Amino acid sequence: MCVEAARLAPSADNVQPWRFIVLDDPAYKKLFCESVLTGLFRRTRFIEKAPVIVVLAAKTSLIVHRVGKRVVKTDVQLIDMGIAGEHFVLQAQELGIGTCWINMFSPKRAKRFLGLPSGMRVISLIAMGYPAEGATKNRRDLPLDSILFYNKNRIK
Ligand SMILES: Cc1cc2nc3c(=O)[nH]c(=O)nc-3n(C[C@H](O)[C@H](O)[C@H](O)COP(=O)(O)O)c2cc1C
Repeated sequence: MCVEAARLAPSADNVQPWRFIVLDDPAYKKLFCESVLTGLFRRTRFIEKAPVIVVLAAKTSLIVHRVGKRVVKTDVQLIDMGIAGEHFVLQAQELGIGTCWINMFSPKRAKRFLGLPSGMRVISLIAMGYPAEGATKNRRDLPLDSILFYNKNRIK
């Protein structure tokens, strides 16, 4: 199960900040999309067609995340959530389920709609479903020699 794979993800100081809200009730999912994907984010409404939308929410104000942000200037919370989300996505892929990370939406609106408590924020959505028959990927990947560097070999 995808959330089981995410549950086992590493996190800074093992704080496991993630919570997953599965929107699989068609009427509720539709209402979510209509309420949250408004204005600039209307173009994200296409995710309403996905059978399932998963909301990635995170606990806020965890000490390790605050230290990361203030002292090291690194958003460790986002790293934790990114790793867990990608565990989820890779497990889905293994099961033949297609996914799409979504960040073109208002996390504030999503939080309000879902009635999340004050110590939580919405990070991302993941739309998921079985790919259409014959669906192909059309993406350009950077060649390895443009992203991999060794020792004194400087990034250009
Ligand atoms: C953090 C993140 C946010 C994304 N947000 C959106 C989004 O809001 N809308 C969208 O259509 N795709 C979004 N995507 C999907 C990317 O455009 C897509 O992953 C990328 O083009 C590579 O395609 P692939 O995942 O099919 O290989 C997002 C992906 C990531 C990783």
